[in-house]
Amino acid sequence: MHNLLNIITNSVTDKSPAGIAAAVGRLISSGEVSGNDRLPTVRSVAQALGISPSTVTDAWRRLQHAGLVTTDGRRGTFVRSRRQPDDPGRFWQVPVDPDTYQWDLSTGTPDPKLLPPLGGALIALRDEPPVSSYLDHPTIPALTDILTSQWPFSAEAITVVDGAMDGLDRIISGNINFGDRVIVTDPGFPPALDMLESAGAELLPVPMVEGGPDLDAFAEVLKLDPQALLLQPRAHNPTGWNLSAQRADQLAELLEGRNLLIIEDDHSGEVAGSDLNSLGDRLPSQVVHIHSFSKAYGPDLRLGAVGGPAEVVNALVHRRQLGPAWSSRLLQGVLLHLLVDPTAAQLVTTASKTYAQRRSSLVAALAEQGVSVPGESGFNLWMEVADEATALISLASHGIGAAPGSPFCVSKTSDHLRLTVSTVDGDYDQLAKLLAEASRASGGRRISA
Ligand SMILES: Cc1ncc(COP(=O)(O)O)c(C=O)c1O
Repeated sequence: MHNLLNIITNSVTDKSPAGIAAAVGRLISSGEVSGNDRLPTVRSVAQALGISPSTVTDAWRRLQHAGLVTTDGRRGTFVRSRRQPDDPGRFWQVPVDPDTYQWDLSTGTPDPKLLPPLGGALIALRDEPPVSSYLDHPTIPALTDILTSQWPFSAEAITVVDGAMDGLDRIISGNINFGDRVIVTDPGFPPALDMLESAGAELLPVPMVEGGPDLDAFAEVLKLDPQALLLQPRAHNPTGWNLSAQRADQLAELLEGRNLLIIEDDHSGEVAGSDLNSLGDRLPSQVVHIHSFSKAYGPDLRLGAVGGPAEVVNALVHRRQLGPAWSSRLLQGVLLHLLVDPTAAQLVTTASKTYAQRRSSLVAALAEQGVSVPGESGFNLWMEVADEATALISLASHGIGAAPGSPFCVSKTSDHLRLTVSTVDGDYDQLAKLLAEASRASGGRRISA
């Protein structure tokens, strides 16, 4: 035990809870601390590092959250031999209660009425030969050709997966090890943050501001030698900011030549309502780009594409070959049909304009009420409120559902709600009035209008 105490205290350079947790995580990854080892007592670590026991308790809690250790009452805290993802994480703190509200702004999903109908594609596929064999290429060649021609940069390899989340899951599990440092935007998308944390990553939050991640904060976290960056290049969920061409150039300059994997999540794709500035255009050998078809063509198609360095994409394809191996070619056929159908293209363009108009209408109506929200595109508004819980209750009493902001926050600085405006069609003034009221409702605290 004494030896373990020395190993741990010698490996800690950053004495914050996150720093201590990451240091112990790296020891577990490298095998220097192994499964079933009992961690030294909180008091002994605190004493050896000259810090407060509560800091060590917080570090142990983080390790427990990541599934790396378990606490067994008075017997102490033990390293798990295998990580057990039994912590529900951020994602499950965002409630989903369909059909509960008159205005449900909690969902983050597209308007079903704005998705292109699938009838034409299904009829066209009716006479296709029955779906082939286990041995076919995972992606339909004609679809690969379209993806290649439309990809934002020249990618060495492209494959089709079951949506952006599947792509993220596979890229994260294949490339992020316990203790790896990953730059994320703050706020960020809860399930993606959960995935990183359950892989044992140490999150390095950088505020998402106009133009992209804050440049000074970004330069600062780069000093910690991170292994990866997770970025939404446009329609950032939840803030609605986009990565500008200028910020993309600045980030590329900072990142060029580093041994750091850039993961781009273009989750809104064709209906993002803004141009895409991909870092892949600047640093093709470092970027794996994920494109989702869910928002434009329908979440239940469950299709997305992943493209980037052959080493990264082919590793994903090979690993997946051991499991489900490919995304249904039947669904790929439906997507292919939609991508080449001029009527579907017209509907997707109309949907994109409609989402932009809904967003700007509510933003303008909120401004009339003295509430300003950030962002430029996408389905979501990130509204600051005096008190998150009070605001949610106030809205619910008027039949309005919203997502709490805290699961999106990496380092919480103020209370927010995420409001999805994709289905809001009219009544903007009335809705804005109720939202403004909720934003100011508090148990004594007030924010300026
Ligand atoms: C940031 C982000 N990534 C990924 C997704 C999900 O994409 P998909 O449906 O393709 O899995 C969403 C959906 O809202 C999202 O907001």
